Amino acid sequence: MEAKQMTDVRVTKLLEKMTLDEKIDQLMQLAAFFYDGASSDGEITGPMEDLGISKQTIHNSGSVLGGSGAKEVISIQKEHLKTNRLGIPLLIMADIIHGFKTIFPVPLAIGSSWDVRLAEKSAEIAALEASVAGVHVTFAPMVDLVRDPRWGRVMETTGEDPFLNGEFAKAFVRGFQGENVTNDTNRVAACVKHFAAYGAPEGGRDYNTVNMSERDLRENYLPAYKAALDAGAQMVMTAFNTVDGIPASGNEKLMRELLRDEWGFDGVVISDWGAIKEMIPHGIAADESEAAKKGLKAGVDIEMMTSTYVKNLQTLVEQGGISEELINESVRRILQLKEKLGLFENPYRGANEQLEEELVFSEEHRQIACELATKSSVLLKNKHVLPLDREQKVALIGPFAHNGDVLGPWSWAGSRENAVKVDEGIKTKIDPVNLIVAQGCDIDTGTEEQVAKAVQAASTADVIVLALGERSEMSGEAGCRADIRLPQVQLDLIKEMKKLTKPIAIVLFNGRPLDLHGVLDQADAVLEAWYPGSEAGTAIADLLYGDVNPSGKLPMSFPYSVGQVPVYYNHYNTGRPDINKSPAERYVSKYLDIPNEPLLPFGFGLSYTTFQYSDTKISSDTLTSDSEITISTHITNTGNVAGEEVVQLYVRDMVGEVVRPIKELKGYEKVHLNPGEKKEVTFILTEEQLRYFHADLSFTSDPGKFTVFVGPNSVDGAELTFELIN
Ligand code: NOJ
Repeated sequence: MEAKQMTDVRVTKLLEKMTLDEKIDQLMQLAAFFYDGASSDGEITGPMEDLGISKQTIHNSGSVLGGSGAKEVISIQKEHLKTNRLGIPLLIMADIIHGFKTIFPVPLAIGSSWDVRLAEKSAEIAALEASVAGVHVTFAPMVDLVRDPRWGRVMETTGEDPFLNGEFAKAFVRGFQGENVTNDTNRVAACVKHFAAYGAPEGGRDYNTVNMSERDLRENYLPAYKAALDAGAQMVMTAFNTVDGIPASGNEKLMRELLRDEWGFDGVVISDWGAIKEMIPHGIAADESEAAKKGLKAGVDIEMMTSTYVKNLQTLVEQGGISEELINESVRRILQLKEKLGLFENPYRGANEQLEEELVFSEEHRQIACELATKSSVLLKNKHVLPLDREQKVALIGPFAHNGDVLGPWSWAGSRENAVKVDEGIKTKIDPVNLIVAQGCDIDTGTEEQVAKAVQAASTADVIVLALGERSEMSGEAGCRADIRLPQVQLDLIKEMKKLTKPIAIVLFNGRPLDLHGVLDQADAVLEAWYPGSEAGTAIADLLYGDVNPSGKLPMSFPYSVGQVPVYYNHYNTGRPDINKSPAERYVSKYLDIPNEPLLPFGFGLSYTTFQYSDTKISSDTLTSDSEITISTHITNTGNVAGEEVVQLYVRDMVGEVVRPIKELKGYEKVHLNPGEKKEVTFILTEEQLRYFHADLSFTSDPGKFTVFVGPNSVDGAELTFELIN
């Protein structure tokens, strides 16, 4: 018998034996601390409710959220199998977002690397560490497209571009799951989230309403989820928000018609934490029973951390509110995933205390975390300050000078204590007598004494390095800010330092694009480090001393001020674009007090060397549906050090049936060049890449003129044109 048939046989037999109660309990997911065998209180990432469920329900439940380490997970599973009548093992799921114990840069930083190979490697390592610690499924990748830096969760995404997000989505899924997650116990199943459009909450406030046209949804927000599913992601998590007026977790059009029927996804769908019950405050369910009915009918198989399913589905079936077949469908999918992951044969799967000891946070993993951290930092400004000279006396000042809060949100298994701090990194580069460290202030408070010490330290130095930023709790889930500047006390510290008239380099640790007024204009150099992870200090020191040349490019625009938000590169033109930029011209689409353009555009990032683009060409000025055109450019490293450049290709459809973005990223290539070296980069463009959703939502292209842009970011570069002929 074929393996798939055997799987189906076991699942079918189990389903036949299960009571309705047992089936319903499979649909519940609780945190690890509910289980016998768990060691302590686990991670709480949402509101805790009184669940009102019996011990028996827990014994019959299907999956667990969390669990910290092989020992605990093995003991939970062992205890569970003693009490579960049919011996159905638990699925262990956890948020392994950017590493398990070896913490990689946060996803927005990984997005800044434009390096999908390393992104995949980071997910592979995260999967290995998590799987030996007993995890079966990770709640990642999060592929929500974002345009609003007030939203704290932008740091969990790879930014504002649908194409780039899709590339990273695929890379993360490949890394987590490998070729075949079934056979590979060193990998974990991926759960793509948050379906759908969670990244567009009104006002950048978490859990808030999302409202957009179906065309916008399909064109910008859905492609990255689809890419993750095409790459084989086994699970989908719902979003907290509404999609066209209906919360995603009860949205039949979204979850059943689109995800299951149109896209053919037949894996497990899990609600986000409490999202089924939240249909009540959303105002689309009068009570828990109605919420449960809507969730199940929408096709949500597992309810996370609330108990509306276990408390109501039985009665709903008895009273004919839902059919038992709907429950069977969900249970079948959950059992199939357990079967796929081999849990019936080996309920502990990869969990292995000894391997955990050996592999987790290994030297090899940390080296890759360091490499990715160097590639994820973005040099935003440099007026002849960086790289630093090893003979210079350095004053390292600021709340991140000696601070383990460099892992970023969602690094619950990582250790801040073991993270390399910035001062520790710098000490490996220079004679420690040439380094003087002062905190200057805390993240959002400070004393005169702290400032005085910093001034004293800085006055003896040749160069001031300021390590500034946001505490990691200022971003991440529920970490939204209406004012996205650095806290005032840090801006004041910059001013104090400026008075000393010494060169200043600022290194930023933060989870979102900030309004950099008071930073970019004051400093001679600015390096955006985001949250670099476990190897932060080593990576930052490598960059500051030029052992590695910065090569990151922004995956999200940095607004001029919060008043511009949302500001993103691939916007529409409007009927009154501000072409002349003339104060005398009033009736155009603009602000009176600030520019339309962001302070730093998508795709922007500097290097210690310079690159020159030349001879940018297009192979033909016409394209047909059965041909392709080649766009090529030459790029030369015109500076003195080796470096990497991300060459970017954008396209604009000049006349569409519906309005089109002024630019859309269609390709990119990261090239390494030694000083004086010249390389050719080519991109291929086909008609298929020019398709978009029309007024009737058909996915086609428009014949007519297109402009192509090739350059170092979304603003600068050479322009070429061609015509699409049908
Ligand atoms: C809520 C978050 O929105 C989601 O991303 C996460 O996976 C779950 N909590 C579980 O921790």
